[in-house]
Amino acid sequence: MKTFINLTLLALLPYLGAVTAAPDPALAAWHLDNLYPLATERFDPVVSPNGVASHLHRIVGGSAFGANYNFDQYNDASCSTAAVQADKSNYWMPQMFWRDNSTFVPLKAGTRFYYFLHRNKPDQPVRAFPPGLRMLVGNPNAKSYAETGLPSGALNFICLENHFSTPNGDTAGPDFNFNIECPQGLVTTVRFPNCWDGVNLYKADGSHMKYTNNLQFGVCPISHPVRLPGIMLEYTWQTYAYKNGVPLKGNLIWANGDTTGYGLHADFVNGWDTEVLETALNDPDCLTGDMTMTACPTLAMSMNLKTAQNCQPQRGVLESFADFAPINALPGCNLPWASGPKPSCNPAVANPSVPNGLKGTDGSLTYTGPSYTNATTSPPNQWTRQGCIGGSTSLTNSFQYSDAAMTQAKCQNTCAEWGMQYSGLLSGAYCVCGSDVDPGAYHFADSNCNSKCGGDSTKTCGGNGKLELFRNPSATTVNHPGMTDPQYIGCRREGGNGHALSAAYINYDGMTIEWCKNYCKAQKQTLAGIEFGRTCMCGNEWTNGGGVPYPQEQCNVPCKGNNKQICGGSQITLSTFNLTLPGGSTNPSPSPSPPPLSSAPVSVSNSASATQSGVVTITKTVTVTGSCTTGAHRRRNHRDLKFSAEG
Ligand SMILES: *[C@@H]1O[C@H](CO)[C@@H](O)[C@H](O)[C@H]1NC(C)=O
Ligand SMILES: *[C@@H]1O[C@H](CO)[C@@H](O)[C@H](O)[C@H]1NC(C)=O
Ligand SMILES: *[C@@H]1O[C@H](CO)[C@@H](O)[C@H](O)[C@H]1NC(C)=O
Repeated sequence: MKTFINLTLLALLPYLGAVTAAPDPALAAWHLDNLYPLATERFDPVVSPNGVASHLHRIVGGSAFGANYNFDQYNDASCSTAAVQADKSNYWMPQMFWRDNSTFVPLKAGTRFYYFLHRNKPDQPVRAFPPGLRMLVGNPNAKSYAETGLPSGALNFICLENHFSTPNGDTAGPDFNFNIECPQGLVTTVRFPNCWDGVNLYKADGSHMKYTNNLQFGVCPISHPVRLPGIMLEYTWQTYAYKNGVPLKGNLIWANGDTTGYGLHADFVNGWDTEVLETALNDPDCLTGDMTMTACPTLAMSMNLKTAQNCQPQRGVLESFADFAPINALPGCNLPWASGPKPSCNPAVANPSVPNGLKGTDGSLTYTGPSYTNATTSPPNQWTRQGCIGGSTSLTNSFQYSDAAMTQAKCQNTCAEWGMQYSGLLSGAYCVCGSDVDPGAYHFADSNCNSKCGGDSTKTCGGNGKLELFRNPSATTVNHPGMTDPQYIGCRREGGNGHALSAAYINYDGMTIEWCKNYCKAQKQTLAGIEFGRTCMCGNEWTNGGGVPYPQEQCNVPCKGNNKQICGGSQITLSTFNLTLPGGSTNPSPSPSPPPLSSAPVSVSNSASATQSGVVTITKTVTVTGSCTTGAHRRRNHRDLKFSAEG
């Protein structure tokens, strides 16, 4: 039997995607062999602390298992039924029964577990489980895969038919009701999520853990930045040893009464020697691809098969059940249940009381040790790199613009101007500003952010569809540099197919800010915008996709009627004013001092064809060469002329 169990990994390969034997730490996976059952118990210290669980579980691992869980107690267990004694964790799934007439026969299972250590690049850390971590995967009440809430492939059912001669020919099913016999056993597997939020050791809704964006090789969401080993439990139920030659369909039932199979779920509570696991996870000899756990020298040191085989629950047991010995009812209130509401029991079923030795203090639900991640700590008044993240909706309340001469600093200054604490660069030329990051965005390896900045080839400005993200927690107040008009609401983009403000517009060579505001007030509009130094437009709302924030530096054309004022840009940008804001109406504010105009041309182009949805498309190339000296020079000439005429 042992030979067969050891071959089960091969059976699973087609369903999991090939685990190559290449010595690449980014593809490493351990399999844990030589696991023995510890107990078949009605305890679930995660869901029912210090009580009796609603149904039976088949438990593997550390001998300190009981009705409560705290890491110190479990970590201190005297032995484990896992060969590697450094692992005092417990793992379990529900007990499976064969229904025979009116009896229920507990089936025996061989077990093998896997730790998938895949990462995006060899030096990306996979960390040891934090002390106190608990996980529950699956939904005991599910009657369809959709109701489990799990990604495809998190639960698997595989019927081993002729595994020895055709190891890849086994039959996968959506549930355990195979309409064939499984002469070499029925495999049920459960994959745990491996991205941790760095804070919570257990949440009833499971939100402290997330899967990567693809079950096996993917990346972690930024809300869950700590990558842990991805556990998969594999139980191979010996259906054939009880009933040979009989199709499984209709004969199997989980301990909670579920006859569909979708009630499959599993738990993990951490009992690892953290130092040993962390050392192994950083030992190149332990990351040589797909390998047994005991091929890792660090872990082999604590391997003891005899201890594992003889290990018993050290705190006693509540009940005991022998494999293949029929019982008349599933323990607890667990009548056969295929659909609809769970059948209730009449009369109610009384629970046994839990002996004191099996009760105890529960550990904290929150992690308080040294931080597993530095990414979320951003010093104030400073832009700190957060990493390379993916997803077009990765920032919330965001706007974006492009600049062929983009630099990290330009983008950061623009985001600060608009009171946005997140600044993201994309494809070398795009800047995205936002107030927050979508927690569902994913951290990608830095190598994905490999586009050189258009305006500084020594730095990277994101990648194709990947944002190079910076955060400055102090950048939350809108502040347009150099602009003091209290009604000024920033340099904004013109509309795409028509003006950004559509109710009225007028061209006037004597244009000033006051003139445009008065014109829009006369038109009974609340928003005013000026461009080209002479075109004033009015409206009550932004139209034609206009009004999107832009950097102040791109509004740089002096007003025709007052060259100390700025009246928008030369093609796609407007200086905008909200006339309902206080100030500026009856007492025109002093002329705003224009920001220093750069003598270098500012180019804006859409050379990078839109790489993701939502990118502002700018089809024109704008070159602005306006400078203070031009205006001053012209003014002086004019005055000179005037003086000469008078003279
Ligand atoms: C179930 O019923 C069949 C037919 O009466 C009988 O042969 C078999 O032994 C019964 N099984 C159990 C476990 O009682
Ligand atoms: C966190 O910062 C410490 C000290 O600077 C550093 O040694 C460690 O590698 C950092 N950890 C991560 C996950 O970046
Ligand atoms: C203009 O200011 C008012 C407050 O006076 C505000 O409610 C409104 O949203 C602003 N409009 C725009 C387009 O910013």
